[in-house]
Amino acid sequence: MTAHAGLPPETQVKGVVLAGGTGTRLHPLTLITNKHLLPIYDRPMVTYAIESLVQAGVTEMMLVTGGTHAGEFLRLLGNGHDWGIERLFYAYQARAGGIAEALGLAERFVGDDRVVVYLADNIFERGIAPSVARFRDQDNGARILLVELEEQEHLRHLGVAEVEQDKVRGIVEKPAQPPSHLAVTGVYFYEPSVFEVVKKLVPSGRGELEITDVNNYYIERSEMEYDVLSGYWGDAGESIEAYYEVNDFVRHHGVNRL
Ligand code: DAU
Repeated sequence: MTAHAGLPPETQVKGVVLAGGTGTRLHPLTLITNKHLLPIYDRPMVTYAIESLVQAGVTEMMLVTGGTHAGEFLRLLGNGHDWGIERLFYAYQARAGGIAEALGLAERFVGDDRVVVYLADNIFERGIAPSVARFRDQDNGARILLVELEEQEHLRHLGVAEVEQDKVRGIVEKPAQPPSHLAVTGVYFYEPSVFEVVKKLVPSGRGELEITDVNNYYIERSEMEYDVLSGYWGDAGESIEAYYEVNDFVRHHGVNRL
């Protein structure tokens, strides 16, 4: 037997698309539908995350959603084949208990494989295929995608990472004083041990299981790698202004470019 660097060929990278939560920052739009079903230019928001994953070769995925409009995702996506998905699974999150809680619902789906988690309100100008390839080459642990943002006020609404050469030193969630200009985007890569990490989490001040706590677990063990992405990135759920900014960008420039 030869030793493999990175992922054994039989191990897949599966996708988990998170489309739950309450979307309160987009009220009253999200009183009548799920945030990820709102249009971004000419199609529902969630389809951009799916397109990005499919382009990167991730074609087996689970969509996690909740609330009163969950059934609409079936109407939109069906078995996923029209959207390039090979096999599509669904999970229902009973209450918005946090990103990490939503990920926890995918434990049996992921099994012994690896997983890329994609927040369905995140829109990237460039495809994520290079990061998926680097994650496949990684021996273990986790990977995050960072973008450089100038505005302090914007950074205060996100996770912000501090890095030193090839190491991530830590992530602070929604910092009053951002420690750097590197925002943590909503695409995360994990080995299957992530489900044991999720089980040990305690709810944060806002009563949620935080993905930043999961990421800091891997950072403390020096098992976190990162890419700094170029090109536009937007979180369309951040505010109504951000929602329209993302719409304008997609309409004029297109996204998920290879
Ligand atoms: O967009 C990037 C940011 O996403 C990161 O910089 C932050 O570190 C990370 O915590 C997250 O912050 P947000 O405050 O934007 O997370 P939000 O609560 O808006 O949830 C983001 C997505 O996760 C949402 O579109 C749907 C999904 N979600 C969220 C919650 C709370 C679920 O599926 N279930 C949930 O219970």
